[in-house]
Amino acid sequence: MRFDIITIFPDFFREAFDFGIIRRARLAGLVEVAAHDLRRWTFDKHRQVDDRPFGGGVGLVLKPEPIFAAVENLTGASERSLFEKGTRVVLLSPQGRVLTQAVAQELATEAEHIVLICGRYEGVDERVAEALVTDEISIGDYVLTGGEPAAIVVVDAVTRLIPGALGSETSAVNESFSDGLLDYPHYTRPPEFRGMRVPEVLASGNHQEIARWRTERALEKTQRNRPDLLK
Ligand code: ADE
Repeated sequence: MRFDIITIFPDFFREAFDFGIIRRARLAGLVEVAAHDLRRWTFDKHRQVDDRPFGGGVGLVLKPEPIFAAVENLTGASERSLFEKGTRVVLLSPQGRVLTQAVAQELATEAEHIVLICGRYEGVDERVAEALVTDEISIGDYVLTGGEPAAIVVVDAVTRLIPGALGSETSAVNESFSDGLLDYPHYTRPPEFRGMRVPEVLASGNHQEIARWRTERALEKTQRNRPDLLK
């Protein structure tokens, strides 16, 4: 899997993918990640990437030309209909469909090359969403100052689902959202800490009882923190 990130702040990503599972997946050759400065695809004296909005209003809007040029350069095609199968061009914006585990799984399974466009300022010229991107994705119902943190989230969530990225293949099976529930609680040593004891069933060796306890606790936690998931 290859990720190309288009951004006006490439330095934002300097060490973002140098830790833990993502670093290991890169070193193992499972993923490649590169951040590209959008200004590389400006050809005017001021290297302008943004401009005032038609219709008035505050702030600046990212211009379409550098973004189209960047995507054309990175994919070999300048419109959606010409992309190779396995290429996804993703615009990160609060107007996108919300990233869920199912969306991350879809990208991990279907994509080989993901280009991530980080929005900035008041927005991105809508012709990018109309003609260029295959997916407009939001990481949640809140507004960030730009798409950069969201791009890191997408790379992380997708990379860990690539076969071989996680240490044990089962790690992505028994976790939050894999069965529509939040994960069950985990404990390690010491068995007692500040008066709080690890639930006894976990040390019982009775795997059936442990499995039942975990399902009950997962349901309880989902009911308390995310009742919407149970609907
Ligand atoms: N840019 C600004 N807010 C965002 C969000 N919630 N998700 C993705 N990109 C964004």
